[in-house]
Amino acid sequence: MTTTTKPRILTGDTPTGRLHLGHWVGSVERRVALQDEYDCYFLLANMHAFTTRFDKPQDIRQDTLEIVKDWLAAGIDPNRSTIVLQTEIPAIAELTWYFAMLLSFNDVMGNPTLVHELETKGLADKYSFGFPLYTVGQCADILAFRPELVPVGEDQEPHIEMCRKAARKFNQLYCDVSSRTEDADYVKAGGVFPIPKALLGRVKRLPGVGDGKQKMSKSLGNAIFLSDTPKDVQKKINKITTGRQSPTEPGDPTNILFQFVEAFILDEARVAELKDRYARGDNLGDGHVKQELAEAINALLEPMRTRRAEYEKSGGDDAIIDIIKAGVKKANATAEETLHLAKRAMKLDFGRRTLA
Ligand code: TRP
Repeated sequence: MTTTTKPRILTGDTPTGRLHLGHWVGSVERRVALQDEYDCYFLLANMHAFTTRFDKPQDIRQDTLEIVKDWLAAGIDPNRSTIVLQTEIPAIAELTWYFAMLLSFNDVMGNPTLVHELETKGLADKYSFGFPLYTVGQCADILAFRPELVPVGEDQEPHIEMCRKAARKFNQLYCDVSSRTEDADYVKAGGVFPIPKALLGRVKRLPGVGDGKQKMSKSLGNAIFLSDTPKDVQKKINKITTGRQSPTEPGDPTNILFQFVEAFILDEARVAELKDRYARGDNLGDGHVKQELAEAINALLEPMRTRRAEYEKSGGDDAIIDIIKAGVKKANATAEETLHLAKRAMKLDFGRRTLA
């Protein structure tokens, strides 16, 4: 039973490796900032990792611990927020089944993010039966916690839309909520599930280092990681190419370099000054801008490095596992409550179980 009355947030990451600056501006920054105002649940989608890497359980385990380290380093506070390990929350797996019946085959297979993944991840004719199911699983991840908001990057919007569809349908079918109800009023009208909203990050798309054509991504090798050293950061920033020849050539203040400047130099007056001088070719070289940019990024990452160091000492992994266990307990209290409400609405109330 949860005692807090703050509105809830749920979001999460699939453990595929370390978090980078694209994750930070796309979602993680928001999560850190919202911890006081909201009752936050941050999910480790380790079951989803098995949809494509079922043959690599050891890597998935390591990546899972690594993401928790990144979260803690970034400022997620396990005393205020709940860390949810997907594979220890049975209500999520159960709700996935029920939601799978409320969405059509075409809802799932036509999900633009899924279609894109099938095309780009080389999965075309060999993906597992379980792979497309992760999208339905994601509806359950979210709705198990009945949150109002889901802070995510743009690529996740189709998943949130599917989740909203499943929630409306459930409420209409099993809770007698009218289909004319406004999204904001579903719970008031007797529904089990709120219709959650996506909350997009401050920067919609951060390019990777290089020519800026691709978005930042670990697999493309163009990412600056939250765990990079100051030297790595400067080296990677130096890889940004704008094609500009000299400090007196009028530059484009919306180019890749300035997309980074806008994202990471927080002093707005300074950003305005840099843009103005760059555009006029007022003796401002790319090299100078890069140095100032790397300093700003390093200032952002420095406190993360300090926090991370705590978990890199011996015994660090044990500390992380303890945090995960504590989160599982809190998360199951909420998710079991949701499952109970959902099963009661579905006339499946044949005795309520309790988890040990
Ligand atoms: N699919 C998300 C990603 O790869 C991770 C995720 C799983 C998630 N379940 C979620 C995000 C629930 C938000 C809410 O980034």
